[in-house]
Amino acid sequence: MTKVLSKSEYEEQVAASRDERMEWWRAARFGMFVHYGLYSQLGRQEWAMALENYPIEEYEQLADTFNPRPDAPREWAELARKAGMKYMVLTTRHHEGFSLWDSEVNPYNSVNCGSGVDVVKEFVDACREHDLKIGFYSSLMDWHHPDGWKCAFDSKARARFTDYIYALNRELVSNYGKIDIMWYDVPAPMESWEGWNTLELNQMVREHQPHIIINNRSKLEEDYATPEERIQADDRDWEACMTFNDISWGYVDSRQAAAYSYNAQRILRMLNEVAAGSGNLLLNIGPAPDGSVPEETVEPLSTVGQWIGANGEAVYGRKAKTLHARVTTNGICDYTWDGGKNIYIWNWIWPAGGRMTLGGFTTSLKKVSLLQDGTDVDFVQKGHRIFLENLPETSPDTIAGVAVIKLEFDDVPVFRRASYYPQLHGGRSYKPQS
Ligand code: GLC
Repeated sequence: MTKVLSKSEYEEQVAASRDERMEWWRAARFGMFVHYGLYSQLGRQEWAMALENYPIEEYEQLADTFNPRPDAPREWAELARKAGMKYMVLTTRHHEGFSLWDSEVNPYNSVNCGSGVDVVKEFVDACREHDLKIGFYSSLMDWHHPDGWKCAFDSKARARFTDYIYALNRELVSNYGKIDIMWYDVPAPMESWEGWNTLELNQMVREHQPHIIINNRSKLEEDYATPEERIQADDRDWEACMTFNDISWGYVDSRQAAAYSYNAQRILRMLNEVAAGSGNLLLNIGPAPDGSVPEETVEPLSTVGQWIGANGEAVYGRKAKTLHARVTTNGICDYTWDGGKNIYIWNWIWPAGGRMTLGGFTTSLKKVSLLQDGTDVDFVQKGHRIFLENLPETSPDTIAGVAVIKLEFDDVPVFRRASYYPQLHGGRSYKPQS
């Protein structure tokens, strides 16, 4: 590797290319996280090895029965494409330390064990087949390598372990063609970028993959923030990663998980929230032991994909933070904004009586239409209020019941949240009958 840059030199160089590297990512909005590994056979969460205090030699037996179907990654990619997702991130090696690729650095891998499948190769091939950008999740924490814990207090162990992590990730960014995202996780036990030699590691990664995007979990801020199991907008690029059931990243019994799993409407609400905050949603599936897609994820994701097919303009593309992220215009809808003259109203509850009022906008409105088919919507605008009239009795969205109404203003809309105090708008005050 060429000379290792200092932290400030490196971060300056990375910042200079960030807009160009992240243009596709910022427009993509929606990705699939895939948590698959030996733990998938247990069906008790991806932390089972640690939480159940497995002795390593007992846990290693799972490697002998790790038999992914070779076409499993293709099934993941098909569902991701169908869901309207634009990228995928696969756990190439989780905390358990088992590599899902033909590694020379780590013989504890899916080609040496079980059915001998190079899952990472199947994954990248499937992503390319379905025009999905490719992300590698790579755990820094490791419960299998003998130095994975000693490195916290033994400098020789730390040197051996960081060399191991470096070599693992060099294989990943060297042997599988163009990779778009490096998704590190859990930089433990070392607590600093110096402790992880992160500067050397990430400069090597970027040298092999000049366009790659790196998340903020290797003790350097890198390209984007990763709020987990919560949707939290940030001033920098950010991506909320969410399990499908708020219980486990890895596989759990589908029949029992279904009761806790997101339906299409909840996923659309998350998509609205990330778009309104100018961020991304990385929604996880935890495939079954043989790699099959968890059955409880198929219908919701397929419905979401169909819905996005009809309303993608409100989802994809650079979205500006709504003037007050999550502000509601009338409580039963939320909106996204293209940063220009267009606001997209996502109607969670369709109003009865054929009319709906939106408060707060003071900019003159040019046109109102149903996004999915362009049907004009009648409207009247008076001061802070927009009256939508002659609306259909029921939601015109037959896919998920979430109709989007597009508001096209004459100028960039101004939304005045404070405008909701009725006292501001005058009018007769109540006079009790004398
Ligand atoms: C946490 C969990 C890990 C999971 C990750 C996903 O770090 O420890 O199991 O892969 O979240 O973001």
